[in-house]
Amino acid sequence: MQKEVLQPIHEQVFFTESEINLDDLMQTCSQKTLKEEYPLADSVENNVVIYDARNITPLIDNSNQEKRVKTELNHILEKGPGVFAIRNLYEEKVIDQSNVIFDKIIKNEATNKNDHFASGSNTRIWNSFQKVALENSEAFISYYANNILRVVAESWCGPNPQMTAQVNVIKPGSEMQKPHRDYHLGFQENEAIQEYPISTHRMSQHLTLQAVIAHSDMPLESGPTLLLPYSQQYELGYLAWRNKEFKGFFSKNAVQVPIKKGDGIFCNPALFHAAGSNSTNNFNRIANLLQISSVFGKAMERIDYNKIIKNIYPALLKHQNNNTLSKRLVENVLVCATDGYPFPTNLDYDTSSYSSLHGLSMFEVTQQALLDSLDLENFSLKLSEHQRIRLSD
Ligand SMILES: [Fe+2]
Repeated sequence: MQKEVLQPIHEQVFFTESEINLDDLMQTCSQKTLKEEYPLADSVENNVVIYDARNITPLIDNSNQEKRVKTELNHILEKGPGVFAIRNLYEEKVIDQSNVIFDKIIKNEATNKNDHFASGSNTRIWNSFQKVALENSEAFISYYANNILRVVAESWCGPNPQMTAQVNVIKPGSEMQKPHRDYHLGFQENEAIQEYPISTHRMSQHLTLQAVIAHSDMPLESGPTLLLPYSQQYELGYLAWRNKEFKGFFSKNAVQVPIKKGDGIFCNPALFHAAGSNSTNNFNRIANLLQISSVFGKAMERIDYNKIIKNIYPALLKHQNNNTLSKRLVENVLVCATDGYPFPTNLDYDTSSYSSLHGLSMFEVTQQALLDSLDLENFSLKLSEHQRIRLSD
């Protein structure tokens, strides 16, 4: 008797590197960005949408307008070119204040860290997020109080996104990075990636948002990030960025947008990109690289929120009580400086979970402590209790 051949009845969901197709990427990247599609933008340069923070700021005082901003940014990241720049995101004095702290941290760290995607002598500060918070509360507060940063983060990751940051000082003569996609699946080898169904490839890009905040000017010769607009839409891209032909296509078609100190570039983590080479003789390009995570994902770096919030709490309380920061700006800092998600918890003891679908998060506990003007000692007691009942037995 002839053996029955089983025909697949479902669409393919597991793919290997042998199935990548350069024509598909070329087709995807042949799309053109039209300014009319993004009415809040200032311009489109090299397929990248450009905003000016001074035009967006007035919109985010109004919740309907804020949704409009978020909707437009979300469209770029998913269905559009996957990348946008925001000029004048930071005032120069805020960047300068952080740069002073970065210099101090670099001097304090015994060995300079090299870049993981490029050879050379670039200087890294891993977890600049936590290090700045512990070194100087005011520098941390003025940086993460930024209204537009929060709106951008929420446009892709939703409420209470988790911030991580790494500084990269790119020295003259440093080489270009290899083109790549980023965390999560961007940090996996092909053998591992092919074990994930395509639905997880799609999900990976929704778990983080990548940003480059310019802490120095970034003229073309200093090597601002090379970007391949629309490449985030190529479904098999996580399996493709190491391939020689794809790399060749990247080097011929990637674009750069020169930016100034205080500007930011934001992209979908699945966008093919690479930091450029610094061909100057005497100019350090300084970037604070933000990786913003959805609360549903595991961030790349471990953040000790307990240490951070206890260190900055007195300064935050003072700003609130003296009205030197608005309620919203205090909240922006809190979103970054605390864990905004109430799980995992211990449902035997964490009875706050019973009153609603979820328990109180560290963010909410801290927000309440500020409203009650608790001093640091009493806030710390509340926080310890909140953490104690959430531990497993
Ligand atoms: Fe990257």
